[in-house]
Amino acid sequence: MIAPIRAIIRRGFEWIERPFERLFGPALNPLAQLGALGFFFFWIVAVSGVYLFIFFDTGIERAYESVERISTIYWYHAGVMRSFHRYASDLLVVMVVVHLLREFAYDHYRGVRWFSWLTGLPIIWLLYGSGITGYWLVWDKLAHFVAITTSELLDWLPIFGEPIARNFISTGTLTSRFFTLMVFMHVAVPLFLLFIMWVHILRISRPKVNPPRMLAALSLVALLGVALWKPALSQEHADLTKAPVEVGLDWFYLPLYPFTNSWGRGAVWAFLGTFSLMIGLMPWLPPLRRAKAAEVDLAHCNGCARCAEDCPYEAIRMVPRTDGMPFPTQAQVNPSLCVTCGICVGACPSSTPFRRSMELRTGIDLPDFQLQLLRERVVAAATPLQESPRVLTLACEHGGGTRYTVGTITLPCVAMAPPSLTDFILSRNLADGVVVAGCAESACYHRLGVTWTKQRFNRTRDPYLRSRVPRERTAMIWTSALETRRFEQEIANFRNRVAALPAMAARHSAPATIAVSATTDRQVQPGEKVDP
Ligand code: HEM
Ligand code: SF4
Ligand code: SF4
Repeated sequence: MIAPIRAIIRRGFEWIERPFERLFGPALNPLAQLGALGFFFFWIVAVSGVYLFIFFDTGIERAYESVERISTIYWYHAGVMRSFHRYASDLLVVMVVVHLLREFAYDHYRGVRWFSWLTGLPIIWLLYGSGITGYWLVWDKLAHFVAITTSELLDWLPIFGEPIARNFISTGTLTSRFFTLMVFMHVAVPLFLLFIMWVHILRISRPKVNPPRMLAALSLVALLGVALWKPALSQEHADLTKAPVEVGLDWFYLPLYPFTNSWGRGAVWAFLGTFSLMIGLMPWLPPLRRAKAAEVDLAHCNGCARCAEDCPYEAIRMVPRTDGMPFPTQAQVNPSLCVTCGICVGACPSSTPFRRSMELRTGIDLPDFQLQLLRERVVAAATPLQESPRVLTLACEHGGGTRYTVGTITLPCVAMAPPSLTDFILSRNLADGVVVAGCAESACYHRLGVTWTKQRFNRTRDPYLRSRVPRERTAMIWTSALETRRFEQEIANFRNRVAALPAMAARHSAPATIAVSATTDRQVQPGEKVDP
């Protein structure tokens, strides 16, 4: 039931994102920067809020006038800031909704990745809490409506002894102290929201919290344009002697308010409860099958920390050495954080298929899909290749390359394949060309797999693809699982390019099977390149 819904929403995202991305590049794809844009809008709201506070009078009698002055006398600075505050808050809601849908569509929320999803739930509540308390402060007709409806909703819950809605029935009973409490809440709730936003990204490494400069600049210009074109204004002064009947509503923060009367308060709470319960249970509907977490083999670990730097999920820590080897640290995996993407295997300097040993061992490996098995699969896939040019594809199981069956080896993430595997394939003459096929650039399933692979191939990140590897015989293709036609087109182009190259002279005359000898493995030193 959930999987088809996910597939439909994903198709929707693909349909919008892919052509846009091809035109403007991944950096300008706002849908790939939603979390970062969320932080950016939050900071705009925070800075503009502090600015507005300078002009705001926190007393109930003078609050409305002080806000009016902001939009009239000081319109050109404080007024613009007020619009920034309002519209950036609205954009934050849009971002949260689309971000939630996208993380759902791309299945980033199940298994070990439940944490970011679940911490998103308090974020939603706190965001709404911040927006709703903000509307009270203007103390106009809308504020009055929000105050009454919120109090009525809260009164329905058996929390407060005396109904708080009574505060708003006549001027005599609305105390300034209560208003001050709202001002305090409007500062405290966003601060707590910021704290939860920080918790939200604790379990992922290098989270994108700043959008690319161009995207940030474009968002600011758009906000300024809207602020000047349609400045945020107040409605009429709140009149506690009259019930607020016709008010202009903010549909971003108050979409449920009109339903309080028509459905009833109980139904609104039931809706909110069901929504929260559903979001809370989603990561386990159905649970993701868990493969065994990565394991460190100390005999092959020199404590270089590359695996810890490349792991996208903060699952590896460097800890003091325990086996007496002359290295200060060793890698340690936290199995409850490991999603078995294999990126650490591709990062480890000991992961070299050139090793000739009884068993191919490396510093860190996936128990269910060891490097040795990967090497065996590569050799097995190469053996039947006959049609020239012979092309081997190392394909991420989440990208567009998996449907292409001829000579394809599927991996949990392309960054699991160490660059030396490509070197191995070409230098052992197992194929005439190697394709590394991952997810679409801005939608890497394992967050950093595409980035690390590109950097390793471009020789800007260890472990490098050695310079002796003929680049014209390698290709990187980044397509989503739905872009099968584009993938086939790109691979056909690559095949044509390779076919036009002179026949490959194998640098090693070794046969296309692994020569296993009894030579013992050595410890790989930091920075050392392991050669055949
Ligand atoms: C103010 C609101 C929010 C902000 C600023 C925010 C920010 C972020 C950021 C910066 C990331 C990391 C992106 C990356 O670099 O890969 C992220 C990931 C994520 N967020 Fe949010 N988020 C917000 C709300 C939510 C909500 C409401 C949900 C869902 C209920 C949610 C679910 C997730 C999930 C599932 C991930 C992916 C974690 C992973 O890749 O394992 N977020 N968010
Ligand atoms: S497989 Fe390695 S890189 Fe991937 S999450 Fe586990 S420890 Fe991190
Ligand atoms: S040698 Fe391998 S397992 Fe050890 S710290 Fe370096 S990358 Fe990690």
